[in-house]
Amino acid sequence: MRLLKWIGGLTGLAAFAGLAVGVIAGAPVADGVDRYFSSNAFCAETCHVMTTTVAAELAESIHGTTKTGVVPECSDCHISDNLFGAYVDHAKGMRDLYSKLVKGIDTAEEFETVRFEAANRVRMHLVNNDSKNCRTCHVMEKIKPERTRGQRQHAEAQEKNITCIVCHYDLVHKETPLSEEFEAVVGSY
Ligand code: HEC
Ligand code: HEC
Ligand code: HEC
Repeated sequence: MRLLKWIGGLTGLAAFAGLAVGVIAGAPVADGVDRYFSSNAFCAETCHVMTTTVAAELAESIHGTTKTGVVPECSDCHISDNLFGAYVDHAKGMRDLYSKLVKGIDTAEEFETVRFEAANRVRMHLVNNDSKNCRTCHVMEKIKPERTRGQRQHAEAQEKNITCIVCHYDLVHKETPLSEEFEAVVGSY
């Protein structure tokens, strides 16, 4: 139902007509659109606010400065790999952009007013998909934390099936307070 609402809210937006066409016409068009909307270029450059905030934060984070040069794109952590999931995620992403246009968020200061809600949405999404995006690169059983604390917590994580985001939040972007909803998940272990 909520998905329908997002799409409904978006159909009037000429700027995203391409996506609407993709959804209606099916996979071939959608695939191209999909790649465009999923690229760092779209996330960070078209949407200027992202460049000065979350993209800059990623660039400075551990994931933006890896020794091996393996650097995740926005989409690696934020878009599902199956086509239907991708639509749902895009609809969500689109809704953020839509509200950006409608509410006129175009400065980093204004972005801060929605960051809390956005962070919570991403965190809960990762809770609900068992941090699937992280697992496309990281294999839990193969991770070898250097320090005892990490080794202990990783043993516990596997024993109790605790998902990555429960411990590794605030890893990529600016520190953002935990919502009650997310805190309840973290506290449940
Ligand atoms: C390695 C994984 C990863 C990558 C790469 C990544 N993000 Fe995130 N992102 C997260 C996680 C996890 C959160 C949830 C908040 C948190 O705990 O950091 C998040 C949150 C966000 C939020 C909500 C606001 C906030 O500060 O939490 C936005 C917007 C966002 N990401 C956009 C982007 C964009 C744009 C890119 C690419 C330039 C990107 N992300 C790359 C993992 C990632
Ligand atoms: C595109 C691949 C990719 C994705 C997706 C990804 N990572 Fe990583 N991650 C890396 C690489 C590369 C490193 C650098 C260290 C290394 O080479 O092992 C890293 C490092 C880390 C570290 C080590 C930080 C430190 O202190 O050294 C943690 C923790 C981590 N990732 C968690 C996550 C979580 C949680 C997610 C999902 C939100 C995620 N990663 C998504 C590739 C990825
Ligand atoms: C119960 C909490 C917990 C869970 C769940 C968890 N981790 Fe960790 N992880 C830690 C701690 C603590 C460390 C050590 C951090 C340190 O020493 O700075 C760590 C370390 C790491 C490292 C760095 C290894 C190193 O020392 O170089 C990576 C990569 C990592 N975790 C990825 C993940 C991924 C991916 C998942 C999900 C598949 C995950 N973790 C789940 C707590 C957790």
